Amino acid sequence: MSKVIVANWKMNPSTLAEAKKLAKESDLEGLIVCPPFPFLEAVASTLKAAKLGAQDLFWEEIGAYTGEVSAGELKNVGVEYVIIGHSERRQNLGETDQMVAKKIAAAIKGGLKPILCVGETRAERNAGRAELIIERELETGLSLVKGREAEVIIAYEPIWAIGTGKPDTPENMSEMVKFIKRIALVDKVIYGGSVTSENAEKFLKKKDISGALVGGASLKGKEITKIVEIGKKYN
Ligand code: PGA
Repeated sequence: MSKVIVANWKMNPSTLAEAKKLAKESDLEGLIVCPPFPFLEAVASTLKAAKLGAQDLFWEEIGAYTGEVSAGELKNVGVEYVIIGHSERRQNLGETDQMVAKKIAAAIKGGLKPILCVGETRAERNAGRAELIIERELETGLSLVKGREAEVIIAYEPIWAIGTGKPDTPENMSEMVKFIKRIALVDKVIYGGSVTSENAEKFLKKKDISGALVGGASLKGKEITKIVEIGKKYN
C-alpha cells in the first residue's frame, strides 16, 4: 500500500505568489496539498502530479451560510481530499464531534475523500484517557457514514505533538494506530504532529502507518520533497 503524505499549509502563506511557488515545489506524486481556500484554484492549476485537498468544508450543499464552503464548491475547483476535525478547529472554533460527523458525511456524499483528525491533549494523555478520547472522536465522527468508514483516512494527531517540535514516539504511535484499527472499520491511518524530514523515516517505516500529515515542514519545498521521498521507500 503506498504511503500518503498530506501537506497541511494551515493559514499560510500570505500571498498568491508564494502559494504558487510552494505549489510548484510541492508538485510530487504521492502528496496531497491542502492550501487555504483563496489559493485552491491557483494551486489546482499548478499541480500536475500532486493531488489537491482542502482544510475544511461545511455540511450544507448551498444557501445562506456566510463564510462557509460546500463539498460541491470544492469539487468544482479540483479538490479531491478534505481535512476534517483538525484539533485547531476543534479548539479555536468549538467544532464538536457532531459537527465533524456531519462534515464527514457531506464530504462522502459530495464525492470528496475525508481525512478525519483525531487526537488527545497532553492532560488527557497524562490522565490515561487518550484511548477514550480517540474512541469518542471516531465513534461520533464516523457515525453518519456507517458501512463507508473505509473511505475515510484517519489522521492520528496527538494535540501535544502538533507544532511543538516534539513528535510522538513511533512505538506509541503504532499502538494508537493498532487501537484505531481495532475499534473502527478503517483502512488507512496516518500520523501527524511535528513530522520533519529528520524524523519522518522513524514513522513511515512502520508497516501499520499509511502516511503522514505534515504542517510546518510542508511550507518548505525541500523538506516536503524529502518526506515524500522517504515515504516512497516504504511503499
Ligand atoms: P505540524 O502540524 O506538522 O506543524 O506539527 C501537523 C498538523 O497539525 O497537521
